[in-house]
Order: sequence, then C-alpha cells, then structure tokens
Amino acid sequence: MNQTRTIKGGGNLKGIVKVPGDKSISHRSLIIGSIAKGETLIEGFLFSEDPLSTADCLRKLGVNIPDIIRDKPFTIQGIGLDNFSEPSQILNCGNSGTTMRLLMGLLAASKNKNFILTGDNSLSERPMNRVCKPLRMMGGKLFGRDNGNKAPITVVGEKLRGCVIGTPIASAQVKSAILLAGLTANGPTSVIEPASSRDHTERMLKAFGADIQIRGELGRNIVINPGRDLIGQKILIPGDISSASFWMIAASIIPNSYITLKNVGLNPTRTGILEIMDKMGCDYEIKDQKVIAGEPIGNIDVRTANSLKPFIIEGAILPKLIDEIPILSVAACFCDGTSQIKDASELRVKETDRLKVMARQLKKFGALVEEEDDGLTITGGSNFIAAEVDSETDHRVAMSLAIASLLAKGTSKIYRSEASNVSYPSFWNDLEDLLNSN
Ligand code: S3P
Repeated sequence: MNQTRTIKGGGNLKGIVKVPGDKSISHRSLIIGSIAKGETLIEGFLFSEDPLSTADCLRKLGVNIPDIIRDKPFTIQGIGLDNFSEPSQILNCGNSGTTMRLLMGLLAASKNKNFILTGDNSLSERPMNRVCKPLRMMGGKLFGRDNGNKAPITVVGEKLRGCVIGTPIASAQVKSAILLAGLTANGPTSVIEPASSRDHTERMLKAFGADIQIRGELGRNIVINPGRDLIGQKILIPGDISSASFWMIAASIIPNSYITLKNVGLNPTRTGILEIMDKMGCDYEIKDQKVIAGEPIGNIDVRTANSLKPFIIEGAILPKLIDEIPILSVAACFCDGTSQIKDASELRVKETDRLKVMARQLKKFGALVEEEDDGLTITGGSNFIAAEVDSETDHRVAMSLAIASLLAKGTSKIYRSEASNVSYPSFWNDLEDLLNSN
C-alpha cells in the first residue's frame, strides 16, 4: 500500500518523545535469547517490521516466541546452541539486512541442516558475499545468485572451523555473523575490523556468559572462544539514537523548537551524530545518564541553535553514524557554508543507494547538493520550496524527507511514506504531537 503524506512547512516542534526501542539491540535480543538456555525477558522491544521479521524467522526455526504486542514485555524460551530445526518454509527476512546476515552466521554453523533465506526487492539486491566469504573461510557452505552474493541464499549447515578473519569493511552485521558462527566452531574465532562498528553483539554475548574478549586498538579485535552455554537474561532495550536523530536535527534547525528525547541509547559506537552536532554548534544537553543492561542511556534536550556551522564527515567516524547520513544531509542544507560527506560508499548498498536517493530527493526542494563517488557535497543557504518527494521505499529517507518538508515553504507531498514502518512506525504520530502549526 503506497501511502502519500502531506506536510506543511513552518511551525515549530515542542514536547517530549519516548524514543522507540533500538533496532539493532531488538534483533539481537531475539537471536541471542533464542540460542541461550532458559528464559530471556525482553522489555522495550522495537515493534516494527524489521525486528518482527527476525521473530518470524526464529519461529520457523523452532523457537517458541510468543505473539509480540507493542509496548508489552515478553519472554522467550531459548533452545540452546545449535538446536534450530530445519524449517519447512523459506525464511523471509523482509527488508532487514540484519536479520539475514546475522542468521546466516548461525545457520551456517547448524550442521546437517539446510535453510533458504530470502527478502524483499531491496534486500535481494544487497551484497551478501561480505558475510558468505568469511563464513566460507570457516568451512561454511552458502550459495546464492550472482556468485553467492545475492538472495535467495541457501545455507547447508556444517561444523565450522575457528579462524582469524580480517574484515575489509567495518560492518557490525558482518562482525556479528562471524561471532555467532564462532560460538560453536571447533576453536577460537578472531575478527579484526578496519574501524570499530557498533558493539551490541559483543556486549550482549558477554552478558549472556559467552567467553568473548575485546582486544587491540579501539577494540577492533574481538575473539570468541566456543564451548560455553549462553544463559537467558533480562534485557532492557534503550531507545534508538538513529530514530532520535530525526528530532535532534529538526529541533536544532526549526526556529523556536525544544524537544526532550527520553531513554536514548548512548553506546559510544553509535554517537557519531552527537560529535557532528558539536561541530555544527547545536544546542543540546544530555541528562540522567545511566547504564542499563550493559548499555549507556540518557535523556537529550535539544533546542534551536543560533547558527549552524558546516561539517566534514570522513574516516573512522562513519560506522558511528552510518544510519544518520540521510538526516545529516538534510542538516547540511541549513548550515552556513559547504559540508562534505566522504568515505561513505557503504551508503550505496543500504536499503537504497542513499547517496543517490538523498541527492535526487533533496534537489526537488532546491537543495544545493552534489553526489560524489563516495559521498555528498552540500552547500547550505538555499531556501527550501515545497516539493513532491518519494522515500523510494527507504525508511530513513522517508523520515529525513519529512523533516526537510517542515523546513520548506508550502505543502510538500511524501510518496511511499509507509517505509518508516521498518524502524519507526509511530514517527508520524510523534510528529503530529510535537508540531505546533503557525
Ligand atoms: C546494523 C549495522 C549497520 C547498520 C544497520 C544495522 C546492525 O549495518 O547500518 O542499520 O544492527 O548490525 P552494517 O553492519 O552493514 O554497517
């Protein structure tokens, strides 16, 4: 169902948002809870399409996951390591790269069982060799279209070998697939990343009792020793900083705005956007910081900034704000000068080619944006005029364009706005609650 939304520019944003649960941690709570022994209680789960795809696949693999009800904690009964049943159906991962890639790691290690994973049109075009290749080094048997690179992916489960694996890209999905595969390998598995990616898998595995060590400069070397059972835990999932980022940027730019974001996950592998907001000169304050279930959280107050300085994003910060590039590209349109986003070719293999799509859509508002091979160059100061824009089925594009529409003169239309259901189904309700029309 294609849902078009109209958004009138002007107005300001004021109020409190309880940020929905972290998507990355929600996936991991189900996956790691499933392979643990005993009960795992999950609170704060993100009730959105992507984590629900993970739940659906795990049910088909024989895990007893109850019907999940929005905002209600629930318990899953873990089945222990290497105990998935061979499903009679294809595992449909929907739009979710995290579901497909993390499960590939576990399934490759499920000896004597066969599995087929598929996804929607977008996921079926995303590269899977980044996971298949290291798993094959461990002895995994994975097959797919385009020389094993694209879904549908067939996995023939094997007993895997522990290996030392250097990953060419800093990707938490790749790292996590290898670590999960390593849990039942015949020896230690060591992953070395070129830059640190989000570490939720490592934190959660440790909390469940895995023998995992973080080594090397900036924790880029992670070693998992097999042999220990994982034990079910209570998981309290913090709010997703990637979802909060739409409001952090909107409040910073839209005159006379003041938003309090409650319960935001502040894991340092995810807070690159705050570093860029510091460079921009945004006016925000983090309050009530604490650590819950191994993850730092806090509330963030953001108010309109006096003026915004342009920024450069490059190098090791990329993995710490990889999902925030679409909304940061909107932010750049309202900075005093030219901003640059470099080293971001990974954006081309997300749910859409986010460099191309953001450049194409922002230009419709009159933005001064140039697409580069590995990034964007954006000059602020153009006056946004209302436009008819399209999410092109990408959730983060849909929500970034909603914020851009608030900054445009006139009434804009956003086609395929329902893409936001992938990570933030209540986005439009939150927008309505925050918005004071002029
Ligand atoms: C994710 C890792 C990131 C991120 C994605 C979620 C995860 O992808 O973009 O939204 O939960 O591990 P990559 O690992 O491909 O960088």
